[in-house]
Amino acid sequence: MILKNIKQLVTFEGTTAIEGNDPDRAVILEDIDLRIEDGLITAIAKDLPEEGEVIDCSDFTLTPGYVDSHTHFIFGGNREDEYRMRLAGASYVEIMAAGGGIRNSVHHTRQASQEELVESGRKRLMGFLENGITTLESKSGYGLDLDTELKQLAAMEVLQAESPQTIVPTFMGAHDIPPEYENRPAEYLDYILETVMPRVKAQGIARYVDIFTEKGVFEIEESRDFLEKIKAMGYPIRLHADEIEPLDGAVLAGELKAVSADHLLKISPEGIASLKQAGTIAGLLPLTAFSLKAPYAPARDLLEAGVAVSLATDYNPGSCHSFSVPLLVALSTIYMRMNMLEVLCGLTINPAVSLGLGEEIGTIEVGKRADILLHRAPNINFLPYHFGVNTVELVIKDGVVRLDRRKSHVSGE
Ligand code: NIG
Ligand code: FE
Repeated sequence: MILKNIKQLVTFEGTTAIEGNDPDRAVILEDIDLRIEDGLITAIAKDLPEEGEVIDCSDFTLTPGYVDSHTHFIFGGNREDEYRMRLAGASYVEIMAAGGGIRNSVHHTRQASQEELVESGRKRLMGFLENGITTLESKSGYGLDLDTELKQLAAMEVLQAESPQTIVPTFMGAHDIPPEYENRPAEYLDYILETVMPRVKAQGIARYVDIFTEKGVFEIEESRDFLEKIKAMGYPIRLHADEIEPLDGAVLAGELKAVSADHLLKISPEGIASLKQAGTIAGLLPLTAFSLKAPYAPARDLLEAGVAVSLATDYNPGSCHSFSVPLLVALSTIYMRMNMLEVLCGLTINPAVSLGLGEEIGTIEVGKRADILLHRAPNINFLPYHFGVNTVELVIKDGVVRLDRRKSHVSGE
């Protein structure tokens, strides 16, 4: 396949995370062609000979496919009633304390069959694809018991086999304390370590392990003890840290050399220094802050400290029922004061590295997999300018056109 006369191609380069999402490391090419063979990018140059399928890109801006490094998209039921209560003034924590929240989804996920989880997951994957998300991480954590956690992970495996997107599974049994272990978080974590993890490991169905380190859920010392044992089992770790209360989860993430520490709305200066020192990627989730009406994570402080930042949807049934990349871009540029090149870095190479895929995806370069978005836009600055509107017109994943909206797309450009 040849992508011909590309109006503008914008990418970062390399296989490692870009500290501070340094916009000077972006590469912007104009009036250029790109060749794809066997799912890989094999040439980027002027005037390539036309062979195979030729796509005229003279109206398009090209970026790497988006990589979403934090989602919870396999779950049963929905929580629109809780959202209505939140709109009427109830807080996320109040709803959680009243038995709603994660436990509500746990109830419905336990009741769902694996086939039902696959079916709802399949529709959501189409929504991610329409937003240009070609690779996504997927957390378990709505089972909180052996069978349901394995059922969630098995549903991901089924979807991976049939869907164009790359799905990276994360085990998150430590998402909440299940009713059976009410007020006994340490005993629940022991159950995960002794009963659930050996099965997860034997089946080889998770690549990372994550925990919700939060006041009233898993406190710092419990989290540390759990994560040290998880690391000893050979798993790289991710954390939900400093989302609601400032517990210095980010300090812990750095001390344990976590791959990623996410949320960070309440991160302290010590937390920022800890992430920087450890090379832990900061996963910012502005759609969640928006939905919770909480102050955004201090993106500029993190970037200026030289921390590598990724941006993810955190799509889940409770705190953030959205995978809208256009809204994510709007919030990142307007409220977190990131420029579009910093945002692009946070949606491509940095999350690819956080998912262990920096060698394969995250940039448009010869040798990488051809995961490419064609935006109906004359240049990269058009994306935030056309806020809230989806500019993605074609999605190419592993060299195959998986979404083509050339006939139906109305972006106003
Ligand atoms: O990332 N913070 C914990 N986990 C999710 C919320 C899950 C839910 O409400 O169902 C999050 O925001
Ligand atoms: Fe989350």
